[in-house]
Amino acid sequence: MNVLDVSRDQIATAARRVMARCDELAQVTATPGGITRVYLSPEHARVNRLVAEWMREIGMRTWQDAAGNQFGRMEPTSLSGTRGGSDLPALLLGSHLDTVLDAGRYDGIVGVLMALEIVRLLRVPTDDGAASDGTVWRVPLPFAIEVVAFSDEEGTRFGKALLGSSAVSGGWDEAWWQLTDADGVTLHRAFLEFGLDPGRIGEAAKHPDELVAYLEAHIEQGPELDRAGLPLAVVSSIASARRFQLVVEGEARHAGGTPYDLRRDALLGASEAALAVERICAAEHHIVGTVGRFEAFPGAVNVIPGEVQFSLDLRGEFDGERDRVWGVLTRELDAIMGRRGLRWHGREIHSAPALFCEPLLRDVVAAGIARAQPDGGEAPIVFSRAGHDGMALGAITGVGMLFLRNPDGISHHPDEAVSAGDVAHGIRALFEAVTLLGHEPRG
Ligand code: GLV
Ligand code: MN
Ligand code: MN
Repeated sequence: MNVLDVSRDQIATAARRVMARCDELAQVTATPGGITRVYLSPEHARVNRLVAEWMREIGMRTWQDAAGNQFGRMEPTSLSGTRGGSDLPALLLGSHLDTVLDAGRYDGIVGVLMALEIVRLLRVPTDDGAASDGTVWRVPLPFAIEVVAFSDEEGTRFGKALLGSSAVSGGWDEAWWQLTDADGVTLHRAFLEFGLDPGRIGEAAKHPDELVAYLEAHIEQGPELDRAGLPLAVVSSIASARRFQLVVEGEARHAGGTPYDLRRDALLGASEAALAVERICAAEHHIVGTVGRFEAFPGAVNVIPGEVQFSLDLRGEFDGERDRVWGVLTRELDAIMGRRGLRWHGREIHSAPALFCEPLLRDVVAAGIARAQPDGGEAPIVFSRAGHDGMALGAITGVGMLFLRNPDGISHHPDEAVSAGDVAHGIRALFEAVTLLGHEPRG
């Protein structure tokens, strides 16, 4: 075998390591028996330490940035032993390590661990385990490789998603410091408690010149590949998203003594609103709306709910469509609340535009998939309804994504799955994509 070739066995070993490490990281949770790992928590610190160790094990230089993202970097060194300068732009590979509440073990995590296997495979086998000084690359690449484990993609703790990647793309908003978690802890205080200096957040931002591109592998989080019986897809674009915190106000009164004509029940108004979200969004193409949190106050069995707070997550293929549907929803809310003698107001807590993957990156990912697929067939193209760190990274660099089959399309749930075989195909495809990119002139 040529030293440049990567064997089927090496890929299978890499995939097994990814699966075992997903299991290992699943143990790092705030909720024993489930998986919950949120931004700036002790669990966040622990997985960063573990992943940093794994980065150093393959010769990467590591650091945690000013937003708690874990990075590793490998300089390009060719087979001839010529070492590249440390200020060369980097191809950024990775995904996120934070989770939703009661999560699965692969969302984000598998992409970080696959990225580490790409770095391992790029090194010639003879120096496995050696320090970065001795590293020789299987393929001479004109860029460095950085692997990133983003610290907050889900927005589970503070409601605002993509905090980690927004810091890297220079999109941090000073207003976010006042966001609070369920215990009333501000983002600012959480930074200090984690050991990060809020005053240095700007240092996490990368300049576009520092990056070649961002490439991410992720489970599909939908059923299309499973239904098609295919392991991998190239992503065309990522849905645009907006999230709102909505409040319906009525009047809390006695559950027994208040006749129906005197009731202003906030829970019934909010329930009608949630059903309207389903009705209106389902009638649209590629628009989904979800009410995921719903809380009635004062929350007593014998009191008519006087207030309801609920969330709305709205996504669409195009920003304009998404915004038009939000307009339809607000008019419907006005009508519902008007009929019921209620008031409503809302606050936007997250907004991200649709992200269209860069054509060149789509091409190299598609070519990588074609080389990796058992039958060598053409790569399917899918649109991502789920959000990803690339939505933030798109502000500073081109973004490409590879999806892995997600049995039954179930995600954000403990039953989330991916097979070792599909991870192996994914690693092969990503490896091919990275090496192809190394041969593409980029302006
Ligand atoms: C993240 O997974 C999201 O799409 O909300
Ligand atoms: Mn997720
Ligand atoms: Mn994810």
